[in-house]
Amino acid sequence: MSASKASSWTWTESWLEESPPVRGARERAGELGIGAVSTGGGALLTVLAAAVQARAVVDVGTGAGVSALRLLEGMPADGVLTSIDVEAEHTGAARAGLQAAGVRANRSRVIHGDAAAVLPRLADGGYDLVHVDVDDARVPGAVLPEAVRLLRPGGVLVVSDALARDRVPDPAQRDARTTAMRELLRAVHDDDRLLATVLPVGAGVLVAVRQPG
Ligand SMILES: C[S@@+](CC[C@H](N)C(=O)[O-])C[C@H]1O[C@@H](n2cnc3c(N)ncnc32)[C@H](O)[C@@H]1O
Repeated sequence: MSASKASSWTWTESWLEESPPVRGARERAGELGIGAVSTGGGALLTVLAAAVQARAVVDVGTGAGVSALRLLEGMPADGVLTSIDVEAEHTGAARAGLQAAGVRANRSRVIHGDAAAVLPRLADGGYDLVHVDVDDARVPGAVLPEAVRLLRPGGVLVVSDALARDRVPDPAQRDARTTAMRELLRAVHDDDRLLATVLPVGAGVLVAVRQPG
């Protein structure tokens, strides 16, 4: 990769400023040692939510709420975000961040629970966008069939850290996270219901559209 390509990517990550609530959530994430979508990855979530006018969104892996706030920034005013995290400390921090940002209680539900237990309770085809950002290597692949089931035709699947911090393209990298992401990318590639691309934004972002049928 050329040096100018590397500096282009760095530049795009800082092209837009984040809102004060998002910066606050990012700070809390840092204090708690929780990862968060990158600045560019967050901007992409906002744009995608706005592009599909996402009224019903699922965010798997709430963390301290950076992705939740970014999604809400792109959703219409009557949109509802469901965000799920297995760690009570994380859901607590995210709820506080959403409240501090002035998000009305009826616009978001932050659920404390394992995605594997919570997602099956959500309605088939009931969602416009599903974002997956879970740091347990086993989870993203396990979540994929549920995520596809939840999406309406034309709905969008977004998986953050899809390149496992840029390790996926390097065949020498065989840790559990990287292997799991390779398997997830292969499964998406082979799934006729999904039209997909991978963007080198942040730690890599998979974006796929659920096709009719
Ligand atoms: C990288 S952080 C999410 C960051 C968040 N999306 C953001 O941008 O602010 C990953 C999160 O996945 C959560 N997680 C890990 N395993 C999970 C599971 N089985 N179900 C739900 N959440 C899980 C972790 O507790 C952690 O908060």
